[in-house]
Amino acid sequence: MASGSIIVPSTTIENEFSNITRNHFPDDFVFGTGTSAYQNEGGATKGGRGLSVWDVFTLRTPGKITDGSNGNVAVDMYSKYKEDIKMMKSMGFDAYRFSISWPRILPGGKLCLGVNQEGIDFYNDLINTLLANALCDSLSLGSSFLLEQEDDFRDYAELCFWEFGDRVKHWFTLNEPWTYTVQGYVARIFPPGKKAPASAPALALAPTNKVANLISTLSLASVNKVADNLIPFNKVVNKIGHNFIPYRGFNMSDLDQITTYDDEFTTYSDVHDRTRNAPLNETVLLTQMLSAPKERSVSSEEKLCWSKQAKEGYTVARNLLLAHAAAVQSYRNKFKEHQKGKIGITLVCHWFEPFDDTNVEDKKASKRALDFMLGWFLEPVLSGRYPKNMTDFVPRENLKPFSREESELLKGSIDFLGLNYYTAWYATNDPYPDAEEGYYRDQKVKFLTEKDGKPIGVDEQNNPKLTAYDACRDKRRVNYFRDHLGNILKAMNDGTSREKVKVKGYFAWSWCDNFEWKDGYTVRFGIIYVDYMNHLKRYPKDSAMWFSKFLVKKTIVA
Ligand code: BGC
Repeated sequence: MASGSIIVPSTTIENEFSNITRNHFPDDFVFGTGTSAYQNEGGATKGGRGLSVWDVFTLRTPGKITDGSNGNVAVDMYSKYKEDIKMMKSMGFDAYRFSISWPRILPGGKLCLGVNQEGIDFYNDLINTLLANALCDSLSLGSSFLLEQEDDFRDYAELCFWEFGDRVKHWFTLNEPWTYTVQGYVARIFPPGKKAPASAPALALAPTNKVANLISTLSLASVNKVADNLIPFNKVVNKIGHNFIPYRGFNMSDLDQITTYDDEFTTYSDVHDRTRNAPLNETVLLTQMLSAPKERSVSSEEKLCWSKQAKEGYTVARNLLLAHAAAVQSYRNKFKEHQKGKIGITLVCHWFEPFDDTNVEDKKASKRALDFMLGWFLEPVLSGRYPKNMTDFVPRENLKPFSREESELLKGSIDFLGLNYYTAWYATNDPYPDAEEGYYRDQKVKFLTEKDGKPIGVDEQNNPKLTAYDACRDKRRVNYFRDHLGNILKAMNDGTSREKVKVKGYFAWSWCDNFEWKDGYTVRFGIIYVDYMNHLKRYPKDSAMWFSKFLVKKTIVA
């Protein structure tokens, strides 16, 4: 795709950023796109790869993914990376941010269980292809979703520095530890996704009826959604086999050895039998659930369980922070001097706007929400401490302070910060939150997505009825990127020198449509459209076309 032949859609909304191009940014500003291993790579059973938590989660409990899918094949970057990298280069990108699949290089999760040379060779080739195409790389050691053994993170990180550090100059230890922690251990919709303590009476269900058990663990509001999703699932399986066939290449016994999943165990065949033969009496089941009494007394075991749960997220986050700090220490002590790279972390954050900006309590609530999302991780890596809002609001027994050594290790443990930002929420003070004990209850914030009927936040649903051609007309995404980059530029230039934000690069999420965690393939984030029905063929969306034009460097005539 030559940049000269690109036609930019004329449907974008004119505004102050309409003519923005990369030439408004400093010469060394880096423009790239990002992907992550599980979401894109596929090749799950190829080249000696082991199992990650996401393999186990999607294969054992497909009902937890909106379309019952998984990343077995994903968008097959495993075999298409050369093609993708060529396209990135032709569009004018400077860099590509990707992550390593831990089980592809350490199939057993631990160094002592062996290094998979085939996995190392795969990433070496990927990195060399990037460099050959004049794209620099920045590499995430962990996408948010690692194997569970955090203790082994330092070994894994050292292996990566040793093998790839001669060419990789920007390392991210973790990507969005907040997501891993909160979605996995608070909301429990990501792995390990263990069952939360019951808050409604258990239903009298046949013990062998696993799908019914699954449904009984979901909130009433989501029951209809799940039931809806189970029906088309069967049809989809027949159409797009690859990402929906759970066990191809995996042995059930491999999955059985992993014991993270308990009574929520649901297999593909459970769901499949159900959709094919409709053996369950769904109406009876739903009626039972809807008529179940909502209030009941809470037993002391349950209270104990809740308090354990309340603590769990904070403990996981603490361990992730310490794993990050250990990897950074190791890089700085053993590798940095020779390899001359930099190391940081990527955090995710929404912006929180006070719902009533004249109300002091709402203002405090929005600051609190920011501290509970960003400050939770950022403050420790800068100062070695938790933000005051957290130490003030989280019960002391749940938020274990860092020891002096831990604090020293954490303090200053980033050379740069990656910030993933997508959307904004309204925040209002909520002294009596309607949440169980723990993270959301502690914050005392209520989150809202609209005010006076106007929405503040949005994402894009896949519309399977659109042709590939129509789906590529993504003018909303074009407007989003253009305005976002325009505002970044303003943040870099406006104000006093202290106020100017030092931004060094921008990586658009995402290079191409891919597996969007619990939403499976129902949401499309890419600037490149992937045709899931037709050999994962790639087509540039209008946003890719827009980037190609935006990225053209002005020629300096001597
Ligand atoms: C995460 C991705 C995720 C995307 C959209 C990114 O910041 O790193 O894993 O797919 O957000 O939710």
